[in-house]
Amino acid sequence: MNQRWNTAKSDTTHARLQQNAEEWQHYHALYRDARKTWAVVPFERMVKDLSIREGYVVGDFGCGEALLAERLGDTCTVHSFDHVAANDAVNACDIADVPLDDSELDVTVFCLSLMGSNFTDYLKEAHRTLKLDGRLHIYEATSRFSDRHKFAADLERLGFGQVTASDEWKFTHIVATKDSVGRRQDVGVVGGLRGESSSMVSTEN
Ligand SMILES: C[S@@+](CC[C@H](N)C(=O)[O-])C[C@H]1O[C@@H](n2cnc3c(N)ncnc32)[C@H](O)[C@@H]1O
Repeated sequence: MNQRWNTAKSDTTHARLQQNAEEWQHYHALYRDARKTWAVVPFERMVKDLSIREGYVVGDFGCGEALLAERLGDTCTVHSFDHVAANDAVNACDIADVPLDDSELDVTVFCLSLMGSNFTDYLKEAHRTLKLDGRLHIYEATSRFSDRHKFAADLERLGFGQVTASDEWKFTHIVATKDSVGRRQDVGVVGGLRGESSSMVSTEN
């Protein structure tokens, strides 16, 4: 399922999941089980990071069951986006095109959600909706990266700076800052991240 979502264009997946939310629910049942075996759960790391940052406006791109909003809702405003709305707080949309104005967000989070052959569009959307100096967080399975330097360099071309990558168990945590209002260069596809690998399968013991 992960592979199908990773290799398809997001508008195709979005249209299918809108018609068949059961596929999405099944995916999340498997994902909940997989998480129980993980030494590091990325969204919990983000909760820890953001819980000391009161008043932030956060975009959770590919929020799943919107656990970030559930845990941070008292201190931050969290906009949650996913193909399927797990509850009323979630905007059901394709994260290539979210219902936010330019420069609304202090922080954008992608926790294991760069799925879809056009994930570059999601990163462009993150850049559009972040304020200048806003922060981008990405967690992905380290096994998905073929070249972290290339990935970081392409983020810089998109208009992000101060890009860091750190290892947290089997995940890579990328942090970057929007430091340019426009793009530095045209970027067709952000490189260095494989589409075909599965974040769920590749973190299994
Ligand atoms: C592995 S789950 C992670 C969920 C949540 N971020 C977490 O850490 O628990 C990835 C989620 O990203 C969502 N997603 C991936 N690409 C998307 C897209 N183009 N539009 C909307 N949601 C997307 C999937 O539907 C799925 O719920």
